[in-house]
Amino acid sequence: MNEKSVGILGLGSYLPEKVVTNQDLEQLVDTSDEWIVERTGIRERRFAGEDEATSDLATKAAERALADAGVGAEEIDLIIVATVTPDMFFPSVACLVQANLKAANAAAFDLTAVCSGFAYGLVVGSQLIRTGMYRKVLVIGAETLSKITDRTDRNTAVVFADGAGAAVLGETSPGFGLIGADLGADGTGGDLLKVPGGGSRRPASAETIAERLHFIRMNGQEVFKFAVKIMGESALKALARAKLAPADITYLVPHQANIRIIQTAAKRLGLPLDKVVVNIDKYGNTSAASIPIALDEAARSGKFKNGDVIVMVGFGAGLTWASSVIKWYRK
Ligand code: ACO
Repeated sequence: MNEKSVGILGLGSYLPEKVVTNQDLEQLVDTSDEWIVERTGIRERRFAGEDEATSDLATKAAERALADAGVGAEEIDLIIVATVTPDMFFPSVACLVQANLKAANAAAFDLTAVCSGFAYGLVVGSQLIRTGMYRKVLVIGAETLSKITDRTDRNTAVVFADGAGAAVLGETSPGFGLIGADLGADGTGGDLLKVPGGGSRRPASAETIAERLHFIRMNGQEVFKFAVKIMGESALKALARAKLAPADITYLVPHQANIRIIQTAAKRLGLPLDKVVVNIDKYGNTSAASIPIALDEAARSGKFKNGDVIVMVGFGAGLTWASSVIKWYRK
């Protein structure tokens, strides 16, 4: 077998400027800073401005990732944007980003796997490079969840937020890069977390607006149970494919949904919390953007050394989950 090793050549992220604190949310719903911090770990989050759409955040994160990689936009062969909050039904966010970046040689599509989207995109992009079809792929996770969150629903209003993160994938040193992965789905759990209106089942109408069907509906407790179970299981499968065990993990970069979910997953994997990358306190749950934002911040802080084993685990609506194991290498 003569497959290429595929790794992350550069990372970038972008958070909107507007900071929304727990105290701000106390003005909107019946909640408290104390409850939010204790039950979720979130202290503040960012919301996009009225004129700011997902493609704006995605483009800024992508520009930073390209600069970090030292790769020109014209070198990109494919842009994958993982999002559930596109600017509009179509064109895709990936096409809007392609135009913004002037990445004229890139194919482009959006991928829907909700909070697992970036981790799904990483695997898809890597495979296209591994097989020799493409040389450079840009994978972006970008969301403006504040735009589809019901500000009167305290279950979701305190959790979801906005942001974008991006990675440039390309060939890396042999034996490094993506060395294991696990993708999964359980569509029977689709009702636990969804936006019921606006699609072909319940097209937008005065009724769907009156029934607030265009906002996220979530059964938080059931999603919580699913999350703590699947994060450990999926990470173990990805590690096994890389012929590694939890003790080999240098850092876990989990989807930032709830600090209690992260702590439970780390415990199940036998990892101390100093091996877990956490930024949920600053940004809340940014769905597909949370893993690449955390990855970018950790990499920029100098946390990762060549040879480190970085495990990313995402889970989300669908239900979906995705894990990947990366043996870190940067020139
Ligand atoms: N402020 C104050 N009280 C609240 C709030 C709030 N914001 N939200 C709920 N409560 C109350 C409830 O009404 C309930 O009160 P009661 O006991 O009087 O009935 C009590 O707090 C406990 O409610 P629970 O739902 O059990 O709260 P829980 O501890 O489960 O926390 C949360 C809720 C934070 C939503 C949690 O369930 C969670 O994080 N679930 C996972 C969600 C998740 O990960 N979703 C994203 C997946 S990613 C994606 O695909 C987008």
